[in-house]
Amino acid sequence: MLGRCSAITLLHRFGTAVPALHQFAGSVVTRDGVIGLGAWLGAELVGVGSIHFREDGPEFAILIEDAWQRRGVGTRLIGAMSDQAIATGWHHAVVELLDANAAARALLLSSCAYVWLSLPDAGLVSGLLLLRQPGGQDDDS
Ligand SMILES: CC(C)(COP(=O)(O)OP(=O)(O)OC[C@H]1O[C@@H](n2cnc3c(N)ncnc32)[C@H](O)[C@@H]1OP(=O)(O)O)[C@@H](O)C(=O)NCCC(=O)NCCS
Repeated sequence: MLGRCSAITLLHRFGTAVPALHQFAGSVVTRDGVIGLGAWLGAELVGVGSIHFREDGPEFAILIEDAWQRRGVGTRLIGAMSDQAIATGWHHAVVELLDANAAARALLLSSCAYVWLSLPDAGLVSGLLLLRQPGGQDDDS
């Protein structure tokens, strides 16, 4: 799947267009503290989301291969990641993005109940996400 991704897609997910493949494989396999979710088209993997459970909350990272971007896959994957985080007792998540990543900003704004983004620091912004409840009921109390 990574081989089908453009350099800009890889850059937005990994901060480098040439990720170390073995590190990525490790990060999406479900293990203690990490849940990996796949978006499958039949037998083909077209997107992956990973949730890294840190002390201050789950950290989300997501990657959809270029040919499947802008078709709603990211929205469904963020929804599934939110359901997983909520099922483990969290109602927020954190995320780190390149400041220039307009697609990810827009995806988060449309998929989460509320999004706070930091000011950029060395080209990166941190996001705090209030997760949308399963069934579409936002918990903004
Ligand atoms: C960001 C990313 C996950 C979005 O996934 P996606 O499957 O394309 O998202 P969706 O199709 O569900 O889009 C949902 C909304 O996000 C916004 N959006 C998505 N891609 C966009 C783009 N290139 N430009 C502007 N807005 C965009 C739109 O509002 C879109 O809704 P619409 O298509 O009805 O207008 C995908 O572009 C990606 O994998 N990028 C590279 C990796 C990355 O940036 N990861 C995030 C940091 S970990």
